[in-house]
Amino acid sequence: TTAEKAGFDHFMLKEIYEQPKAYRDTMMGRISADGRSVELKEIGMTPEQIRGIRNVHIVACGTAYHAGMVGKSLIESLARIPVEIDVASEYRYRSPIITPETLVIVVSQSGETADTLAALREAKRCGARVLAITNVVGSSVSREANDVIITQAGPEIAVASTKAYTSQLIAFMLYGLFLADTLGTRDKDWIADVLVAMQKLPEQVESILERAQVLKQVAESLAKHDNLFFIGRGIDFAVAQEGSLKLKEISYIHSEAYPAGELKHGTLALIEEGIPVIALITQEDLYEKTLSNIKEVKARGAHVLGLVNEGTEVEVGKSIDELFAIPRTLPLLSPALSVVPLQLLAYYASLARGNDVDKPRNLAKSVTVE
Ligand code: G6P
Repeated sequence: TTAEKAGFDHFMLKEIYEQPKAYRDTMMGRISADGRSVELKEIGMTPEQIRGIRNVHIVACGTAYHAGMVGKSLIESLARIPVEIDVASEYRYRSPIITPETLVIVVSQSGETADTLAALREAKRCGARVLAITNVVGSSVSREANDVIITQAGPEIAVASTKAYTSQLIAFMLYGLFLADTLGTRDKDWIADVLVAMQKLPEQVESILERAQVLKQVAESLAKHDNLFFIGRGIDFAVAQEGSLKLKEISYIHSEAYPAGELKHGTLALIEEGIPVIALITQEDLYEKTLSNIKEVKARGAHVLGLVNEGTEVEVGKSIDELFAIPRTLPLLSPALSVVPLQLLAYYASLARGNDVDKPRNLAKSVTVE
């Protein structure tokens, strides 16, 4: 009913707009009063045990897997621990090397996904410690894991995940900082600065949501196409994959996410006059490289929409057809902002095509069969 949707036309749109609250709720009670450290009282591991972690495996499905890709970047850069990531349906069957010094992180909104649960059980059987990041208290995953971080996104109804994904990003950011603090890989002042920047994310998301109408117009023209591409490098590529999945799930437009530098090794052959390319360019150290890839697609007639950092419109905008600016944050926090316009593009493209936004064909909210 409309009442349940709080006046929004769809659960998905309501859930997109609930993200500032979901970010605040997921951070709440997990940052020390002096703002200098992350407090995860739910983690039972001693500092000694944390120092004993040799490697991390992240295992999840769908959108949660994409959150895990960002999580991998965060943990590797913050804590300098090697991280491997797998989709859960592949993990068990590739004989992963799991030891008691492996920390396995399973990510699941529902906590009931069969493949993820099976991966968790396999990890435990091999003696690994399992940390679950889930949105549902009391779910199978939360009951069977050794440690649990609950994302405080609240119930998510739309099949296409939005606020659960972004809350998983917040959980990974907190956990990465927690590890960095425990291991001493980053100093306290630096961690305090990141925490200040994290606490600005909710209002920065609000400022993106205020510009939703611009994205609605872009989406209406995207909706006329049958194929498009997302490109980005590093953490932007991880977000590009989630943007592409969101669009596919609900608009049924075929899209591919590609690491910007890899296009020239094959996919560039598909770029032809008028094809839309959505480029993410939020990582300062990679501006030049990504821009040269944008020029390559432009030269073949692509129509480029760029997600760029506020203040870099002139610098990076010259070779882009349409720009959408993302508020400034630290490079490692950018996914929590850059994914929001992509969610809105998917939503409005689905709407423009007359699809059932909240219940896309062939898909289920929670998949409890392997
Ligand atoms: C289903 C949903 C996806 C979701 C995936 C994993 O396929 O349609 O949106 O990302 O399951 O779900 P989980 O509950 O484990 O995060």
